[in-house]
Amino acid sequence: MTPGRHARIAAVGSALPRRVVPNRYFESLVETSDQWIVERTGIHARRFAGAGETTASLSTEAARRALASAGTAPEAVDLLIVATCTPDRPLPSTAAFVQARLGMSCPAFDLNAACAGFVYGISVGTSQVTAGAADRVLVVGAEVLSRVLNMTDRTTCVLFGDGAGAALLEPGEDAGVIDSVLAMDGAQAELLTIPAGGSEEPTTAESLAKLRNTIHMRDGQAVFKQAVVAMAAAATELLDKAGLQPSDVDTVVAHQANARIILAVGKRLGIDPSKVFLDIAEVGNTSAASIPIALDRAWRSGRLSRGDLVLTAAFGAGLAWGANLIRWTADVPNDHA
Ligand code: ACO
Repeated sequence: MTPGRHARIAAVGSALPRRVVPNRYFESLVETSDQWIVERTGIHARRFAGAGETTASLSTEAARRALASAGTAPEAVDLLIVATCTPDRPLPSTAAFVQARLGMSCPAFDLNAACAGFVYGISVGTSQVTAGAADRVLVVGAEVLSRVLNMTDRTTCVLFGDGAGAALLEPGEDAGVIDSVLAMDGAQAELLTIPAGGSEEPTTAESLAKLRNTIHMRDGQAVFKQAVVAMAAAATELLDKAGLQPSDVDTVVAHQANARIILAVGKRLGIDPSKVFLDIAEVGNTSAASIPIALDRAWRSGRLSRGDLVLTAAFGAGLAWGANLIRWTADVPNDHA
């Protein structure tokens, strides 16, 4: 780390597909109901990508909004990180397509930490800025999960949605991104997985017929319980390291996996529910895109102000989880980007 060099978030942006999919859509596909989905998850609707909309196209749109709000030209970005577990293609990285579409010439790579991808990306990007290796790092979280859903599995198909969010990191005099905590328990990889389509089980007619190229979740309740404990523990570790209390946090922007999980994390930390931002009702679980979409919606609606202490926390496949502690340094945008 270069002494005295900090990283701050200059602006965020997001993009959602046009198509809104209400809970009722699933009632004709599986045995479920709008009431069950709302009560058990807090989700009312999500967005699904349509023709021509992909992880790269949504990433590009979200990145453009963040850059426009920061008043930064794409050519000024030194590093692009795209966090995703639903890339446009196995090869090359989604970041390659986004870099070209934005007219950038900087290095770019994908990062897969599933739902924790954006939290990981902010940590890596911050390290690049504080080390003096880069001035401006664009961190994108983007997913098109609708294309890896098993529409006959009611325990997963109702949970997920598509979208993208982006944050531009740049050097700041005071710490904007104060610190991060990252964690992984790979021994539990089988709990949440897409079994086929990789080197272990290449796509074949048989694997496709068995829908092994879709999300498989084993024991949703176990994932639920571990998510609450792990996110709260990461947040506590982060606050302790910074010498801060849960009561110092102005807004919690957690991964929107399930409203009950997010509220339980807030409760475990002793943070007032009014400080916990929720937008899962409209977007569902968008994995790596979830936190930057929520940050953008919170920011543009005036829920985040300069000087606020923002706590992010995420948990997902891997099992991977983590949290960032951020002093918000961006004024509410008036560019309507
Ligand atoms: N509609 C109606 N009934 C359903 C549905 C549905 N969509 N889904 C499950 N059920 C049924 C179950 O089959 C079960 O029925 P049974 O009692 O007859 O066996 C009953 O509802 C209760 O099931 P539970 O699993 O106990 O329900 P729970 O309250 O735990 O909610 C849920 C399930 C929403 C999946 C919850 O456990 C959860 O949110 N888990 C965490 C998921 C998550 O966070 N994933 C994040 C990572 S994703 C990633 O990394 C890509």
